[in-house]
Amino acid sequence: MIPIPQYPLYSAALSELGAVQVNYYLDEERQWALNVTELRRALKEARTRCQPRALCIINPGNPTGQVQSRKCIEEVIHFAWEEKLFLLADEVYQDNIWAKGSQFHSFKKVLFEMGPKYSESLELASFHSISKGFMGECGFRGGYMEIINMDPAVQQQLTKLVSVRLCPPVLGQIVVDAVVNPPQPGDPSYQQFIQEKQVVLSALAEKARLTEETFNRAPGIHCNPVQGAMYSFPRIELPARAVQEAKAQGLAPDMFFCRKLLEETGICIVPGSGFGQREGTYHFR
Ligand SMILES: Cc1ncc(COP(=O)(O)O)c(C=O)c1O
Repeated sequence: MIPIPQYPLYSAALSELGAVQVNYYLDEERQWALNVTELRRALKEARTRCQPRALCIINPGNPTGQVQSRKCIEEVIHFAWEEKLFLLADEVYQDNIWAKGSQFHSFKKVLFEMGPKYSESLELASFHSISKGFMGECGFRGGYMEIINMDPAVQQQLTKLVSVRLCPPVLGQIVVDAVVNPPQPGDPSYQQFIQEKQVVLSALAEKARLTEETFNRAPGIHCNPVQGAMYSFPRIELPARAVQEAKAQGLAPDMFFCRKLLEETGICIVPGSGFGQREGTYHFR
């Protein structure tokens, strides 16, 4: 089960594995919130055609920029536990929180706070990467996955699968180490580290605010608050004639819009159809 809109890594991985993609839709009217009623709907519908095994959550969201509330995370954990789904928590944007009142809660932390009934049985994998946050070290290729409660026989197979892919380059491993063990108060580089981290994060927060404000001033564009992550995903209203022209050219209407924007202004954006969106709505990231 994957969110729509989603980061296309997930649809691509499912396709590569020959697995069935089960879509659950984020609620654009409620700032792209995840709604457990929608998860239930998606699961029920999917059970008529496959055996759903895993629920993937992206928090903070790409491309939608929403940050889940603690209450929502608890509800998702309860849902996954009740339905015996393996929970995959993609938390690579955990340092990128911008909106007042938004806070990052890891699924692992909430799971353990919910007590042993959940924390001793729910299968959970959570992910982090050095390419996001304030680090932005995309080229080094490093990250980690933490696994909880996985069946030991399955985990042994997973270790084998991961091992045959060998390891990332040494520099990538060094950056992972630096990310999980940042300078501590009293260390020689602590002050500089904190200062640089704050400069990067406050510049990103300013850009999040600026994109939301600027888009909402443009007629025909509606942008939800960018609560976290590194993207805004505004909705665009396209005139019927533009939609017709796009179809005549064999293009998705939002792709048509993105091309026109690129040709006329040099601004390059990504069409919403690459991430998935509700039928008849158009977006870009
Ligand atoms: C939600 C999400 N998960 C995972 C990744 C993959 O990160 P990496 O390329 O650092 O492995 C990305 C990258 O954009 C992402 O947006």
